[in-house]
Amino acid sequence: MNSIDSLSPLLQRYSLGGKDLAEPGPSKEELQLIAQAALRAPDHNELIPFRFVIVEGSARERLADLFEAYAKREGKSEESCRIERSRALQVPVTIAVVARIDLAHPLVPAHEQWACIGGAITNALNALHAMGYAGKMLSGGKVRDQILNQAFCHTGETLVGWIVAGTPIKPPRAKTQKSTDKILSWF
Ligand SMILES: Cc1cc2nc3c(=O)[nH]c(=O)nc-3n(C[C@H](O)[C@H](O)[C@H](O)COP(=O)(O)O)c2cc1C
Repeated sequence: MNSIDSLSPLLQRYSLGGKDLAEPGPSKEELQLIAQAALRAPDHNELIPFRFVIVEGSARERLADLFEAYAKREGKSEESCRIERSRALQVPVTIAVVARIDLAHPLVPAHEQWACIGGAITNALNALHAMGYAGKMLSGGKVRDQILNQAFCHTGETLVGWIVAGTPIKPPRAKTQKSTDKILSWF
């Protein structure tokens, strides 16, 4: 197999949000593989500065309650509150991404820990894509909401956002290949 063929899942990954995802989502076994892939992110000193919290099945009702209550707190219209609620219910599997950054670590500064978390999110998304699922990393104002933070985080942790995951119900939008001009140079 040549390099282009072997890299094709990485080169063709794309994001799909909740409205373009249907059942089934990844199974418990597949979620274990996704977590294993995330753990392959480069991680200085093996701090594992993140964890995932899975929302699936009936737990989606609890997430829907939280999203709806958030929208109400924000003074959103009844229609917007209903949309927030459906965001949680329509997605087969939601993976909350929680960061646990050790700001006082003597060897590994915070930016290196965040780099690991970015790698973990990317590996998880690539794992979903390689297994025939699709997903999208989402955040928005909800990640700064105190009550939503309390629902997912322990003291000192940060809610990064949610990876929504399921079976794609539409083909990927044709994307032009991004130019490497601005990111690639030789020293
Ligand atoms: C931490 C993080 C949070 C994000 N939050 C949002 C978001 O709230 N809404 C959104 O549309 N895209 C968000 N994105 C970007 C999407 O996940 C996605 O990468 C982007 O839409 C580009 O699509 P692509 O992956 O198909 O290239 C976020 C990405 C990251 C890494």
